[in-house]
Amino acid sequence: MGPAIVDGRYFLGYGRIHETVKSMAASIAASGFQPDIIVAIGSGGFIPARILRTFIRKPILTVGISYYDADNHHTPQPRTIQWIDEVEQKLRGRSILLVDEVDDSRVTLEYCLLELLRYGPREVAVAVLHNKRKQKRGALPPEVRRYFVGEELEDRWICYPWDAEDIAEQERLAARVTS
Ligand code: G4P
Ligand code: MG
Repeated sequence: MGPAIVDGRYFLGYGRIHETVKSMAASIAASGFQPDIIVAIGSGGFIPARILRTFIRKPILTVGISYYDADNHHTPQPRTIQWIDEVEQKLRGRSILLVDEVDDSRVTLEYCLLELLRYGPREVAVAVLHNKRKQKRGALPPEVRRYFVGEELEDRWICYPWDAEDIAEQERLAARVTS
């Protein structure tokens, strides 16, 4: 059963997200992929990456990406707000699992994957909680051969619990049954 749909949007609670991450971790293990390092894309990837660490006990590095410049103007391409140059040598020859919450346009993922590939990793794989089924503007580089997704969803807005100002209301909506 998919997540609850209310007024055309998906609503998710923390429990479901935890279960989704757990099932992704099982798929990752079953695939034989053994990451050395988890890289979380902020900020949506932070909480999924931390839950994943409960099942895959590897260190988490984080990268920050923004579509806004210092004057808060929207930019067409993602920009780095924090990267991992200081720990570059930790990535060379290592297996990296890049984690984010949603694969929407795929532009952010493509940008981060291309950046990570420059550090000469052994392998970079992707794990996202949700993939929206839609035409993508970005593409996964051919070097990326493993793509793990928790749930495939329709192209609707997803309301995550960490964005909720009223978590009780969020959990109430997330618990609604939709067929
Ligand atoms: P992609 O490569 O992973 O597809 O990401 P894309 O650039 O398309 O996403 C741009 C921003 O829009 C990202 O946030 C992403 O998390 C957010 N986004 C896209 N679809 C949804 C959705 O259905 N629900 C929510 N809540 N967010 C969505 P960002 O700019 O990186 O900010 P942050 O929220 O991760 O900090
Ligand atoms: Mg994000």
